[in-house]
Amino acid sequence: MQHFRTLFDISRDDLKRILATATDLKSRLESGDRPPVLQRKVLALLFEKPSLRTRVSFESGIAQLGGTSLFLGEEVGWGKRESYDDFARVLGEYVDVVVCRAKSHDRVEQFASLNLVPVINGLTDLSHPCQAIADALTIQEAFGDLAGRRVVFVGDGNNVARSLLLVSAMLGMSFTLACPDGYAIDQAWCDRVIKAYPDAKISQIRDPNEAVVDADVIYTDVWISMGQESEQAERRQVFSDYRVDEKLLRLAPRHARLLHCLPAVRGQEITDGAIDGPQSDVIRQAGNRMHAQKGLLVWLLAREWVDQYVP
Ligand code: CP
Ligand code: NVA
Repeated sequence: MQHFRTLFDISRDDLKRILATATDLKSRLESGDRPPVLQRKVLALLFEKPSLRTRVSFESGIAQLGGTSLFLGEEVGWGKRESYDDFARVLGEYVDVVVCRAKSHDRVEQFASLNLVPVINGLTDLSHPCQAIADALTIQEAFGDLAGRRVVFVGDGNNVARSLLLVSAMLGMSFTLACPDGYAIDQAWCDRVIKAYPDAKISQIRDPNEAVVDADVIYTDVWISMGQESEQAERRQVFSDYRVDEKLLRLAPRHARLLHCLPAVRGQEITDGAIDGPQSDVIRQAGNRMHAQKGLLVWLLAREWVDQYVP
């Protein structure tokens, strides 16, 4: 069964088909066409952490495709009222696909290992692959061909950074992380990426000023991810030189685009001037969460439609 636990679950060609499907569905929507490709399909959103974008973009996306969704938050007692496996087996009787946002990535792996219905990772401590396909779509819209583009992530080597590194490797873009000592992306993830994509161009450096000099895309995310609240004071101090502001943007090429997965802590990892400035694509990027995930859902659940209609 095809799952989407991380981007390692799909190939380069699969990713390109998902992006093509997203682009096709986005332009259809813009011209008022909402093909009911997933009519009567039911999507469950099983979330252990808060969400605006992931939740609403999946709910709206499947509704536009003729399907429906169920949001399952804390009250369903995932792993609390009964065993994880009993819970999953029962949910698998009711729905066609599950999006999980879990505190621990192992929970998503465990659910997927039962092979009941396709499982999509809606963010874990390890990765955020749905975000990365929307990011790729956003960069593609800005630059057309992605091969050879330079992506620079300023900040923490976290779930979003890991997925962005991998999507960059899959699409032939170089990836540089500028981060303080001790906050780089773990070697195990980098090794896995290089094994799967030996042509990957990855670097991790300390100086954000140096990193952005030839960037096409500058990306940042919060310094304190969900679940890291106890490290707040320390992280604020460690990352204080890694704020994306107008001064940093002035060191980058004028054509560089600015991305942030949101939610942002304005004034912390990014200034108002940067996020609201002319180089920022963050709102279109957030909008693309829905288009990218529609592409993913149709590719997962209605491959024949993709084969027939997507150029
Ligand atoms: N970027 C993102 O995943 O946002 P939410 O946490 O609001 O879903
Ligand atoms: N790194 C952030 C991303 C939120 C979308 C977190 O995990 O909280």
